[in-house]
Order: sequence, then structure tokens, then C-alpha cells
Amino acid sequence: MDLFEYQARDLFAAHGVPVLGAVVVDTPEAAVDAAKSLGDGLKVVKAQVKIGGRGKAGGVKLAKTDEELTEHAAAILGMDIKGHTVHKVMIAEGAEIAEEYYFSVLLDRANRTYLAMASREGGMEIEELAVERPEALARIPVDALTGIDAAKAAEIVEAGKFPEDVKDQVADVVQKLWQVFVAEDALLVEVNPLVKTPDGKIIALDGKVSLDENAAFRHASHEELVDHAAADPLEAKAKAKGLNYVKLDGEVGIIGNGAGLVMSTLDVVAYAGENFGGTKPANFLDIGGGASAEVMANGLEVILSDPQVKSVFVNVFGGITACDAVANGIVQAFQLLSDRGEAVTRPLVVRLDGNNAELGRSILTEANLPLLEQVDTMDGAASRAAELAAQGA
Ligand SMILES: Nc1ncnc2c1ncn2[C@@H]1O[C@H](COP(=O)(O)OP(=O)(O)OP(=O)(O)O)[C@@H](O)[C@H]1O
Ligand SMILES: [Mg+2]
Repeated sequence: MDLFEYQARDLFAAHGVPVLGAVVVDTPEAAVDAAKSLGDGLKVVKAQVKIGGRGKAGGVKLAKTDEELTEHAAAILGMDIKGHTVHKVMIAEGAEIAEEYYFSVLLDRANRTYLAMASREGGMEIEELAVERPEALARIPVDALTGIDAAKAAEIVEAGKFPEDVKDQVADVVQKLWQVFVAEDALLVEVNPLVKTPDGKIIALDGKVSLDENAAFRHASHEELVDHAAADPLEAKAKAKGLNYVKLDGEVGIIGNGAGLVMSTLDVVAYAGENFGGTKPANFLDIGGGASAEVMANGLEVILSDPQVKSVFVNVFGGITACDAVANGIVQAFQLLSDRGEAVTRPLVVRLDGNNAELGRSILTEANLPLLEQVDTMDGAASRAAELAAQGA
């Protein structure tokens, strides 16, 4: 989960990373009050969107007076930055900047370790720097067990070629940022720019943090950081029901058991769809092992509440949960849905294979459910589901 800058700033502050005073607002009037609460002096109005390059897009503006502040807040609120609408701005104390540095630490999956990146040449051109002069951006592997201790911090500061007069301060901040990374279970902590003020202080002027959602269970406080307004309503509904669902753009709803099977189902459906006007999978949904009637009903309900869905493909390979149990689950799910007033209204193609497939198929045949047809092979079922989706479109 990516955080907004103001949320990252709050986490930094909680872990002792030096940041500037700031308040988040959603109207130009509130911006003026926020600025007053921060005291005298220069202010900066910053768009809060989860995308980089805000400064270059005109989403970061300095304000010397209340008039400028109102003007900038009014201009930035509602602005579109690379497809992200600005709903909130952060009013922050303006810093005097002598130098801009770069620091980040992230999970380096390819090398199965953590990686720190540092440079004394930070700022808005960091992407260009990384491409044109990669040697100016130091990359230092960080061992998960020792982390960024004083020795590692000194190594990072050395490799990043930080000026002598700020080395100790930067080393200290870098260790604190590692504390943020560990304590909050982050996948990324980035500060760009990390600035030196004319009087030699180091401040984190911008922050980008991405949290590991797999660790959410041990961070009750992270729930407050979720941007519910931006969540896809179908994904939110699925999440509330404990389903492993990802919304996609197509017309064929997909239900399968096991992430690997569902992934290959998406491929097979997309491939089959090429023969039927380019129909595509509408979602990823893994109902896992032990799929009960309730899970099946919840899955169907979420998929069928997507108006783009024109057909549904249920692809099950019976294992520990045998096909007869899944078939009974489907039959009960139809009943559950009609009890809920959400009766199945679009064609369903079911392919059962594996443990007790014959028994499962006969249960479905006997149930004689409306709109449900069975196809015995995965390719055949995918093709039929794509065809039905094309007909329903
Ligand atoms: N509080 C501040 N005081 C003075 N100048 C600031 C302040 N915050 C940001 N700036 C200036 O604006 C530039 C851009 O700000 P910032 O880094 O927050 O946004 P960005 O880098 O464009 O956005 P992103 O990091 O999302 O790409 C900074 O490099 C800095 O020069
Ligand atoms: Mg930045």
C-alpha cells in the first residue's frame, strides 16, 4: 500500500526523522488557517497524490503571502496529475534549501535482500541521474539481520559521497529511516529531497513510503492509512468478504481454486477471446481450497455485481476438496443467491476435473440449474465462456 506524502511525513516524525511542520487540507480557505497554525514565514502548497513528479506537474508551489497561498491551493486542488485528481493539499513550512540529497531503502526482490540507494545529487532530476550517470547514485545492499546500523550508515554516507559537514547527521537520519522501514513493515522508504538548510540542518522534505500489506495483521494503526475513497468498489466488496479478488477490464468473470490455476485460466480465456471479438477476463478470483457454498456464493455475487461481466467461467480442479463438494457448493450458492435477491442472471460455464470429477458433474447435471452449462476441458470451457460473453455484449 502506497502512502500519501503527509502520511509518510507523520511516520517519519513518529520515528524521530526531522521533518517540517505541515497540515493537510481540502479547501483553499482551510489552507490559510493551516498556514497560520504553522507560524510566520514561507509556506509551500503540495498536491497529495500517489504519483511521482508532482513538482514538475505544477503540484508544488511556494507561497509568501495568504493571497499566494489561496491562489496556489485553489489551483492545485482538483488538478489532474498523470490521471490522479488532487483532493488534498499539504501546507508545509517552507525550507531554505542549500543542497538536495537522495536516500531510499527498499526490498530488492531480485537479489533477495534489502537495498539502500543514496546520492548527494538528489531532487527532481533523480530519474535522469539514475539513467545518465548511474555511478552518482550509490547502491548498497543491506543485510536483513544487521540492517542499517552505525557502520552500515557510515558506508552509505561514504558511498553516496555526502559532504563532510553533514555526514554524521545524514548517517543518523538514515538509521532512523531504517527504523521506519523495519518498525512499519515497509517495502519502500524514499526521501527525495533530503535537504541541507543554509544553517547546516538535515531535513526530510518529501517522503514516499510503501507498506507491506502482508504485515497488516500486526499493524492495527495502518488501517487508518487506507484511502477508502480510491479503492475499487468491487475490490472493496470482495475484501470485506475475505475474497482474493482483483478487478480486470474484460467481460468473462473467472472463479477458480488455486492461484496458479486462476492465472492460467486468465491466459486461456484471453487467448480464446481472440476468436470472439477480443473478449477478456473480467477479474482474478481464487476461492482457494475447501471452497464452501458460501465462498462460492460470495464469489459469484461479487463477479455478477460487475456490470461489465457477460459470462462466468468456474474452473475447478478437485484436490483435497473434491469436485462433488464443489458441485454441491455451486448448487447451494445458486439457492443462497436467489434467497439474497441476487439470482444468477448471466450464463455460467463450469469445468470440473480432478478428484471425483464424474460425481461432481452428475450432481450439476441433476440440479439442472438455469444458465449453467458444463464443458469437460479447460480450453473448451474457456472458449464457450468467451463465446457467451461475446453474445451477451
Ligand atoms: N517544504 C518545502 N520548502 C521548500 N521547498 C520545498 C519544500 N517541499 C518541496 N520543496 C521543493 O519542491 C521540490 C519538489 O518537491 P517534492 O520532492 O516534495 O515533490 P516531487 O519530488 O516533485 O514529487 P515526487 O517526489 O512525488 O516526484 C523539492 O525538490 C524542493 O526543491
Ligand atoms: Mg520528491
